Amino acid sequence: MTKYVGAIDQGTTSTRFIVFDRKGRIVSTAQREHEQIYPRPGWVEHNPLEIWLNTRTVIFDALERRGLSPSDLAAVGVTNQRETALLWDRKTGEPLYNAIVWQDTRTDQLVARYAAEGGQDRLRAKTGLPLATYFSGLKLHWILANVPGAREKAEAGDALFGNIDTWLLWNLTGGAEGGIHITDVTNASRTQLMDLETLAWDEDILKLFEIPRACLPRIVSSSEEYGLAREPLEGVKLSGILGDQQAALFGQACLHPGEAKNTYGTGNFMLMNTGEKPFPSTCGLVTTVGYKLGGSKAIYALEGSIAITGALVQWLRDNLGIIQTSADIEPLARTVSDNGDVYFVPAFSGLYAPRWQESARGVICGLTRFANKGHIARAALEATAYQTREVLEAMVKDSKVAIRELRTDGGMVVNELLMQFQSDMINVPVVRPKVIETTALGAAYAAGLAVGYWHSTDDIVQNWGVDRRWHPHMDEAQREHLYASWNKAVTRSLDWAD
Ligand SMILES: Nc1ncnc2c1ncn2[C@@H]1O[C@H](COP(=O)(O)OP(=O)(O)OP(=O)(O)O)[C@@H](O)[C@H]1O
Ligand SMILES: [Mg+2]
Repeated sequence: MTKYVGAIDQGTTSTRFIVFDRKGRIVSTAQREHEQIYPRPGWVEHNPLEIWLNTRTVIFDALERRGLSPSDLAAVGVTNQRETALLWDRKTGEPLYNAIVWQDTRTDQLVARYAAEGGQDRLRAKTGLPLATYFSGLKLHWILANVPGAREKAEAGDALFGNIDTWLLWNLTGGAEGGIHITDVTNASRTQLMDLETLAWDEDILKLFEIPRACLPRIVSSSEEYGLAREPLEGVKLSGILGDQQAALFGQACLHPGEAKNTYGTGNFMLMNTGEKPFPSTCGLVTTVGYKLGGSKAIYALEGSIAITGALVQWLRDNLGIIQTSADIEPLARTVSDNGDVYFVPAFSGLYAPRWQESARGVICGLTRFANKGHIARAALEATAYQTREVLEAMVKDSKVAIRELRTDGGMVVNELLMQFQSDMINVPVVRPKVIETTALGAAYAAGLAVGYWHSTDDIVQNWGVDRRWHPHMDEAQREHLYASWNKAVTRSLDWAD
């Protein structure tokens, strides 16, 4: 009898395989980081073959750890860093170029060119997205224009495009020997090539971005039986795909309009379920597909995306070396009682929601001889909370739904200093659920629902539980003083890159 459901969580910094039981509890897990490749300022790449190898490794490891075999899994779902784009050879499985990561800003000139002819929001009505370096359609355009032979191969159907979900599904189902070439609606909605209403590739945008249709995957729902896996999951049903942030929304049981979650990982991503109609944003958020279960109607979401939050902690670790591990930031920040008037605007990839400033770059403001590394650590954590407040305010303005408490998840939420400061800064309680691996859990739910392992989304609601809640304590005057200073610091980051 099959006992469990597995999920591959292919993130920006690492790949995990997690096995869940029917209660949504973690049975086994394995994780592996991959290399971040920075060929030039603003460029970020991943090696797709390393990602595929790591995926296989974590599957083997997680199964072995508990003596499980593929036949113990009723289904497996895939969730992934979204917008990270690659093109590979259909016959050999060789990538034509590294995967261009969502944070990469190399398409900024293209964005400027397209925006000059009709404004940054010219594709919003159809795609829900502003023109930005973030989304994958223009990354594909860049590969086709800059990698010798790529365009010819793509036009002939000999090169395949995918975000990471597509790459993994193709490899998991046999690769060059019969691999299936698909993407789910949530990932497709981040290419800026799909019409949000029809859920199909849009001919006009393909023409505008000069993308040959022959290289694009077939768009499928987020929960249905796509096919059977080959090794290392020989014979297992692959039946769920969700972009990582949509997976977290699903895993956090945000299944009704107005329900929202905020994930604290490499970046921060707040998503609110808005029901069966795309909900346009006028406050700098994006409209995206939340999930689509088989033949049911698509459920849409409003999203506030922040590029750099946990990544700033990693930057302090890897680039400055002032901490050894990400967890060290909390004790370091606690060596000082406040930020010492230091503000850190981590606009390393420009600023995403709600400002969409491609040309902003990172700044540290307010330095005096008083400032020390404790203040820098605190300013880095506070930056996450200020950016979250900006997005939350945009979310409330757009949706007209008051957020009475904020559901959180992701790697940073173990940081209790951050959680308390977050609650203080938004002046509402912050809640951490029992399972913070909600990204993987959401993908597992999508896969398990498709094969009847879970019967309905009620099971998701049943399984969700609170671990801890933080309540706001800060007085109004202090909160507003800090936030006003943050806003001043943001103005210093703008219009830097040419
Ligand atoms: N104790 C901590 N305090 C602050 N940040 C932390 C802490 N522990 C981990 N992080 C940060 O959390 C992030 C990792 O979170 P998570 O594992 O959710 O991200 P991820 O899933 O790897 O992100 P992605 O899916 O984008 O790869 C890292 O950026 C790391 O710096
Ligand atoms: Mg993640």
